[in-house]
Amino acid sequence: MNNRFLFLSLVVALSHYVAVAEESGNSSSSLTLRAVNLGNWLLIEGWMKPSLFDGIPNKDLLDGTQVQFMSTKLQTYLSAEHGGGSIVVANRTTARGWETFRLWRVNETFFNFRVANKQFMGLESEGEGGNNVVANSDSASSSMEIFQIVRNDGDPNRVRIRAPNGLFLQAISETKVSADYEGSSWEDSDPSVFKMIILTESTIRGEYQITNGYGPEKAPQIMRDHWNTYITEDDFKFMSENGVNAVRVPVGWWIAQDPTPPKPFVGGSSKILDKAFTWAQKYGMKVIVDLHACPGSQNGNPHSATRDGYQEWGDSYIPHTLATIDFLAQRYGDRPNLAAIELMNEPRRMDLGTLKKYYQAGYDVVRKHTSTAYVIMSNPLDRDSKSLLSFAGGFNRVVIDVHYYNLFDPKFNSMNVKQNIDYIRNQRASDLSSLTASNGPLIFVGEWSGDWSVHDASKEDHRQFLKAQVDVYSRATFGWAYWSYKCDSNNWSLKWMIDNNYVSF
Ligand SMILES: *[C@@H]1O[C@H](CO)[C@@H](O)[C@H](O)[C@H]1NC(C)=O
Ligand SMILES: *[C@@H]1O[C@H](CO)[C@@H](O)[C@H](O)[C@H]1NC(C)=O
Ligand SMILES: *[C@@H]1O[C@H](CO)[C@@H](O)[C@H](O)[C@H]1NC(C)=O
Ligand SMILES: *[C@@H]1O[C@H](CO)[C@@H](O)[C@H](O)[C@H]1NC(C)=O
Repeated sequence: MNNRFLFLSLVVALSHYVAVAEESGNSSSSLTLRAVNLGNWLLIEGWMKPSLFDGIPNKDLLDGTQVQFMSTKLQTYLSAEHGGGSIVVANRTTARGWETFRLWRVNETFFNFRVANKQFMGLESEGEGGNNVVANSDSASSSMEIFQIVRNDGDPNRVRIRAPNGLFLQAISETKVSADYEGSSWEDSDPSVFKMIILTESTIRGEYQITNGYGPEKAPQIMRDHWNTYITEDDFKFMSENGVNAVRVPVGWWIAQDPTPPKPFVGGSSKILDKAFTWAQKYGMKVIVDLHACPGSQNGNPHSATRDGYQEWGDSYIPHTLATIDFLAQRYGDRPNLAAIELMNEPRRMDLGTLKKYYQAGYDVVRKHTSTAYVIMSNPLDRDSKSLLSFAGGFNRVVIDVHYYNLFDPKFNSMNVKQNIDYIRNQRASDLSSLTASNGPLIFVGEWSGDWSVHDASKEDHRQFLKAQVDVYSRATFGWAYWSYKCDSNNWSLKWMIDNNYVSF
């Protein structure tokens, strides 16, 4: 670290301090936000509390599950020829993309099968070819694309696939797969029996999976119970007593269609967000509303509420996304403790021009309702942290959000305790200082955590790792937010870290 950096950040930090203090009329208010993400609350991330999924029947076959089917007779895999747009055959001895089907769950046992080119498997609709299995439908809206997976009682990965005409699929030969089998044997020699391989490493456990998994009868109660118990007023009290002065609340796009969002999503989450604002206010805390799941999915990750892992957000989704921002800004723009609205979490694999167009329009929408709330623009995950810097400099009260994890990159796998801590104090500090300019946007480390790839660390080592992060990220001109408040996995739970004396600030 050099002196110039220290000086610069001091100047920036001080000017921000004055701004925040003036605006709140409270000179003891803090320099920057020391926030925590309320992850897995209004937007489900299954890994943070897997037991939420326990009550779902056939819970290993949720939306987006990737499956492959090997004919026990031919020992070859079902394959959507050319990845889709053509017939389904059974002539591959190894399974890759064309042999992989992504499930869209209709109910417990009925599914649509999405193939590599994003089309759906179905039966040829008319005439003589009516029993031929094809993968050329652009939508899954008709009954011709619904298949039932019938699992063997003794071996759930031994299956037969019932087609929409009521008959079973059979691999008659390597190049002929048809839906015209009426037998019911489970022998290897039976052409309708398949070994189902579930690609568990690509499992998705997000809001779509939990709500559609429980289905329209059960999901509303499950979700409401979760919202009402996972985070309560006591948690806000705990946070404020431990130095947390803001929360970042991830939400999904369907909140804007409360109380009747499109299925499978469940209505009622905006009322819970209202409560979060009220509780935060009571304990002197600010709120960042973070649009974490955009329509179409902006990154394909489970936390974007994707149905099947494809990232489809783009130009055509901008109007819908802006309507969501408009709802949030209108509903919360007058709240005195609204710190910021974040327009989109962690965009990825995205045309930068499209993203800037959206950020520009999203900024304008927020400003229709509030001139004081900050507007947060999340840096694309797969781009340099400076990619939005000059663009964002053209706005008033704009913040760039960067996420710093010593994970998710192979370079961290072999780092020891000291190397991890040095990385924070050197590389992260220098990245932050390179983003920080007195006339530029404010900078927010909107996600970081105490997790790392070190498995033999002492408690003191771990404390030092957390301390280094608090020290360095506190130089971010807008502040930081830990991921997350509560999590089954302790290293991701700020509450656990505080309760067990791993971190304080
Ligand atoms: C100022 O902030 C402190 C700490 O957040 C709080 O305890 C106090 O009540 C605030 N005072 C006013 C006047 O808002
Ligand atoms: C599988 O069958 C299709 C359709 O007959 C054919 O075009 C393709 O070359 C075959 N592939 C292999 C590996 O046999
Ligand atoms: C599941 O969906 C299929 C196809 O729409 C339907 O025929 C079946 O009755 C449904 N089963 C249940 C239990 O709802
Ligand atoms: C959390 O960190 C500790 C080391 O400080 C490590 O032993 C443990 O495996 C980590 N937990 C997880 C779930 O990675």
